[in-house]
Amino acid sequence: MKKYILAEFNKLKTKQDLIILAIESSCDETAVSVVKNGREVLSNIISSQIEIHRRFGGVVPEIASRNHLMAISNLYEEALKEARITPEEIDAIAVTYGAGLMGALLVGVNFAKGLSYSLKKPLIAVNHVHGHIASNYITYKDLQPPFLCLMVSGGHTAILKVSDYNKFKMLGSTVDDAVGEAFDKVARVLSLPYPGGPEIDKLAKEGKNSIKFTVSNSLKSTLNFSFSGIKTAVINYVHKKQQKGESYNPADIARSFEECVTDELVDKTVRAMQLSNIKKVVVAGGVGANSMLQEKLRSAAKKIGGEAFFPQLKYCTDNAAMIGSAAYYYIKKGLGRADLDLTARPTIDL
Ligand code: KG4
Ligand code: ZN
Repeated sequence: MKKYILAEFNKLKTKQDLIILAIESSCDETAVSVVKNGREVLSNIISSQIEIHRRFGGVVPEIASRNHLMAISNLYEEALKEARITPEEIDAIAVTYGAGLMGALLVGVNFAKGLSYSLKKPLIAVNHVHGHIASNYITYKDLQPPFLCLMVSGGHTAILKVSDYNKFKMLGSTVDDAVGEAFDKVARVLSLPYPGGPEIDKLAKEGKNSIKFTVSNSLKSTLNFSFSGIKTAVINYVHKKQQKGESYNPADIARSFEECVTDELVDKTVRAMQLSNIKKVVVAGGVGANSMLQEKLRSAAKKIGGEAFFPQLKYCTDNAAMIGSAAYYYIKKGLGRADLDLTARPTIDL
């Protein structure tokens, strides 16, 4: 069986049309998608657990795993139906194996292993971050490396150089909190529901940039980020106001926080574009949905003769189509093949 699958995998490198069934379950979205040739999404089914976790103010790992388990096989059926394909027409099974929550990842990984075994199709292990980058290939059909990537999600914040489909170099990253994490924590202190990013985005539109929040100066000369200081500053600001019984305006706090954080992301991305002389930047990850970031980065990139690309909103946050796209480019380079001993990895390198 192992030999047969290896031979099948090798055939895929040169096969003209590749149909990949992709699975994503790293956090609180269970997702299954069918993607043709890395860019054409035949189906993209997502079951979000946001409502379930909202009452806890964040993702509860054990609850996430149980819900993935309940949802995944129906989503698989639905994804095939919507794509109008039979299981036999699938060329490979792709799955996110890390980074993410261990128990959550294991549901997707084990389901994918079961499919690979029963359908006798190659299994492809995909790095979640590579998936987020690939979400841009789905949105922009002609986009090709080289480009820079501003990776901004709940778990990652980094500037990467993508010199080829599978060649990534970290130019800078957060030394503490991911930017999405900071959005979520600030939202929580303002009593906004989980996930906080979209709530801050909305509320900031009604506020004024009137409070002086700053990010750490010590990383100024680098392409690294730190968001833990500003997160704590906002939390302390609110707590002090509450202790003194003074009123405060959540919209102004949201606006002032968002202005500061997006300035920092844009400044460093533009600097990376200038230093590397790569004028194309793609954004990846959930915070890429932020309207202020989109506006500022688009205009800053334009000012230096460059261009910023943002994935379509539905491909910014976690989805399986991006995993199917990344897997396509792995296969074309003979990468990513996994056997039935594949396990989930809560943390993995780029
Ligand atoms: O990429 P993603 O869906 O999951 C991870 O892989 O982490 O990112 C989720 C993060 C959350 O922190 C969420 O609050 C944030 O993306 N987010 C936003 C917006 N939409 C989602 N942050 C700021 N503005 C938004 N509009
Ligand atoms: Zn993600």
